[in-house]
Amino acid sequence: MQVFANGELVLPDRVQRGALVVEAGRIVEIREGGAVPAGALDCGGDWLAPGLIELHTDNLERHIEPRPKVKWPQEAAILAHDAELAGCGITTVFDALRVGSLPSRTKGNYAEYARGLADVLLGLRAAGVLKISHRLHLRAEICSETLIEELARFGPGDQVGILSLMDHTPGQRQFRDLAQLRHYLAGKHGFSEAEFEAHVTERRAIFDRLGAVHEAAAVAAAQCLGAHLASHDDTTAADVAASARHGASFAEFPTTLEAAQACRAAGIKVMMGAPNLIRGGSHSGNVAAETLAVAGCLDLLSSDYIPSGLLAAALRLGDLWGDPARGLATVTAAPAEATGLADRGRLVPGLRADLIRFRRHGAAALLRGTWVKGARVA
Ligand SMILES: [Fe+2]
Repeated sequence: MQVFANGELVLPDRVQRGALVVEAGRIVEIREGGAVPAGALDCGGDWLAPGLIELHTDNLERHIEPRPKVKWPQEAAILAHDAELAGCGITTVFDALRVGSLPSRTKGNYAEYARGLADVLLGLRAAGVLKISHRLHLRAEICSETLIEELARFGPGDQVGILSLMDHTPGQRQFRDLAQLRHYLAGKHGFSEAEFEAHVTERRAIFDRLGAVHEAAAVAAAQCLGAHLASHDDTTAADVAASARHGASFAEFPTTLEAAQACRAAGIKVMMGAPNLIRGGSHSGNVAAETLAVAGCLDLLSSDYIPSGLLAAALRLGDLWGDPARGLATVTAAPAEATGLADRGRLVPGLRADLIRFRRHGAAALLRGTWVKGARVA
């Protein structure tokens, strides 16, 4: 038995001084007050919260390819990513892997990788060497040439947790504003003006040829795989209506207030990026996460491309709402609920003892420990 005593416990509806009792990897009791019994870990007034649950991170891609065209051994990359997330307080992650490539393209990083990387990840998970809980999130790129055959390489045995429908065709959704896309691609891939024009023409032609069939195939694949379906970059009420028809359970990064409000009306949870909240806006010129938070239509946060941003952003939301428990729920209870993980995400007896201990230092969160099923991992 372990006792985490004298902590500010982030309970589902309030923050309260108390102790957590853990046995065999589960929370078995919650006690009120600051008493520190013999043998207990004295948290000294630090916060104790459920481990964070990350639904959409492309952080693994950065470890696999740390520089353009530079490949790092995949096992080493996954282990480093795993340790990094544990060190940011994340105890469950849905690793986002893109399916749908553009093999005919020469410029940009559009080669197939998802199946091979998933095999390595699932192998490490089966070997029990990962610190935190990993699941697959397939990002189905509608505007691609190979989506159907790449999806067919996955089956129910892969236990894919999330399948998101992405459509990055130029001129809509995330890149409705072509000037923003031009700026992004010039920065990311060094596209010249002529290369940009060719890119837009080529992508639009692919969408016209394959968009509808790819969308239908991805929705069918989510059902067949038993994955939760997510929408991505919904921009208009019509986009949200289509997502609702497809059975989306949450919306990744809606790009307008109109879309976020339509999601709420349709019972689709809204996820926004932690970097957007912390930086005070979207890097591609779309709606600010804070605007949605103030309007009461933000349910979930994702660290997107900065794992350490997740805890800091949840604390910031708590400050904004004047309710730290509600802020932290966007990275714990809410993502657990959105993905059907009933065994974690709240400090409640019977649930997994996935825990973090931290202290606040201005806007920063000082993480002082991460535990998965009661075992310390960072
Ligand atoms: Fe996007």
